Amino acid sequence: MRFTYLGHSCFLIESGSHRLLLDPFISGNPLTTDKVDILALKPDYILLTHGHSDHTSDAEHIALANGSLIIANFEVCNWFADRGCQTFALNTGGKKQFDFGTVKMLSATHSSTMPDGSDGGDPNGFLLQAENKVVYIAGDTGLNADMALIPKYFVRPDLAILPVGDVFTMGYEDALIAAQIVETSKVIGCHFDTFDPIKIDHNKAISTFATKGIELILPQINQVINL
Ligand code: NI
Ligand code: MN
Repeated sequence: MRFTYLGHSCFLIESGSHRLLLDPFISGNPLTTDKVDILALKPDYILLTHGHSDHTSDAEHIALANGSLIIANFEVCNWFADRGCQTFALNTGGKKQFDFGTVKMLSATHSSTMPDGSDGGDPNGFLLQAENKVVYIAGDTGLNADMALIPKYFVRPDLAILPVGDVFTMGYEDALIAAQIVETSKVIGCHFDTFDPIKIDHNKAISTFATKGIELILPQINQVINL
């Protein structure tokens, strides 16, 4: 699998010939507006962890332009279906096999209002199984005890994508505990630096992870990470 960081919590995930876009917030992100070519993304699928605009603001127009299938919770899917998008709804604990792999919807501790204030259901994370790898995508969340279930579902995740920016989600100290709980040795941090309140000290975060033998990658915009 190939992960391209598109700022905040957005990644293009390529699995074989399949293209998945996670939590698109690009045109409204001051760090990515002039760096990411939205028209070139062409995702087959768009995965949304919750309804907040810093995870969904580009989903509608990208989905409509490319015929992408939006995978999200029931309420988020209904909101996008009302706008003409194709959707596949999961809810917490459910899993579904797609042509690129399997997605299991997990809990997250956060909120999920849609951009217009309507109900976005519960926030979620995902466990993505593809190409014989397991990836934990936490979504916006605080540290929570449900994470202890994750290594029991399949095997230890080969990679976890965790928020590290603090204030609106867990910070890197709690993300390190999360990485230990889910038993992964490789973490890509997200949800950092986009706004003033979530600017973090990169060296401190990376070295804090290193003391426990866990690799923390704080990607640059457009950085590619292969798994
Ligand atoms: Ni959020
Ligand atoms: Mn967020």
